[in-house]
Amino acid sequence: MADAEITQRKADHLAIAASGQADFHRPTLLEDVHLIHCALPERALADIDLSTSLLGRTFRAPLMVTGMTGGTEAAAEINRALAAAAAAVGIPFGLGSQRAMVEHPSLTSTYDVRGAAPDVFLCANFGVVQLARISTTALREALARVGADALCIHLNPAQELAQPGGDRDFRCGIETIRRAVGELAVPVMVKETGCGLSPAVVRALAGAGVRAVDVSGGGGTSWTAVESHRAQGEGALLARELWDWGIPTAAAVAWAAASEAPLQIVASGGIRNGLDAARAMALGAHAAGVAQPALRAVREGGRDGAIAFLNRLVDGLRAATLLAGVGSSAELRHAPRVITGELRDWVAQRPA
Ligand code: FNR
Repeated sequence: MADAEITQRKADHLAIAASGQADFHRPTLLEDVHLIHCALPERALADIDLSTSLLGRTFRAPLMVTGMTGGTEAAAEINRALAAAAAAVGIPFGLGSQRAMVEHPSLTSTYDVRGAAPDVFLCANFGVVQLARISTTALREALARVGADALCIHLNPAQELAQPGGDRDFRCGIETIRRAVGELAVPVMVKETGCGLSPAVVRALAGAGVRAVDVSGGGGTSWTAVESHRAQGEGALLARELWDWGIPTAAAVAWAAASEAPLQIVASGGIRNGLDAARAMALGAHAAGVAQPALRAVREGGRDGAIAFLNRLVDGLRAATLLAGVGSSAELRHAPRVITGELRDWVAQRPA
């Protein structure tokens, strides 16, 4: 792909996703999770312990900024500011797909956040289809060049189908993931990008040795919707048809937790405040992730705006933990809750 084309595509993605015009029409179903109010918490807010281990490291809160961008000057600025904000709050930060950097090494600097955030826990990012085409040596080099602590492999078949010229061949996905897990020194997390992971996929990933999954379900940013804004003609019709395709985030988390696969679960896709994060954790997530709201915060207020947004998330999560009558993020995963509405159907009809 030519440089100018990549630049335009990345700029389109950032502008459309941040505008909110590509959100799912359907909800996350987190609103169907009701933590039970505890009127006698008997503990101080300051004593709530939100510290959480994820991918072998301990963080100050069970939150992360999930991968979004890279490849352009605007993307570089966003990456640096968000990485610095994540470091200030004590949570991991994910780079966007590094495909552009592998195809065009001159773009490496747009993924380099170590100057701005020397200590941030940094997740590299590749799509599984792209990963299948590069050698382990090239992958190790790409990770080393950004100083990555972990690798996120993204799965996005719906977006690819909705994108004119997108990938159409999704064979060898699990083999590729197994190779990355076996041959890399850093831990591997596999994530969707807004369509969710089913129980069968979660089990396959656990079998391949993946340490964590980000279910990234439906209800927040829809990538088929993003592509429907960009596409013309027939392509736009398919993208529009698939606008709401996917497993709602709450259902994907509940299913992943019930599968009892030996891996950690991150909930993303439509997490917009601390209460959303708390609800996802009460369904069994170990942590929650945000993309679009962090992007908006950084576009509006730079690094400080992103720090303020992330601190609000932490404060909301801390408040919900106290009000649910538990003392830590670990206990929140077992806090009493009631599931109502459509989510109850999704939970009851969990596929094998
Ligand atoms: C993304 N997302 C994403 N994911 C990924 O693994 N690699 C990527 O390059 C990107 N690019 C990207 C760009 C922008 C602008 C956004 C908003 C998102 C997906 C992201 O990590 C997340 O899974 C979904 O966006 C769902 O979360 P939100 O946006 O609803 O909080």
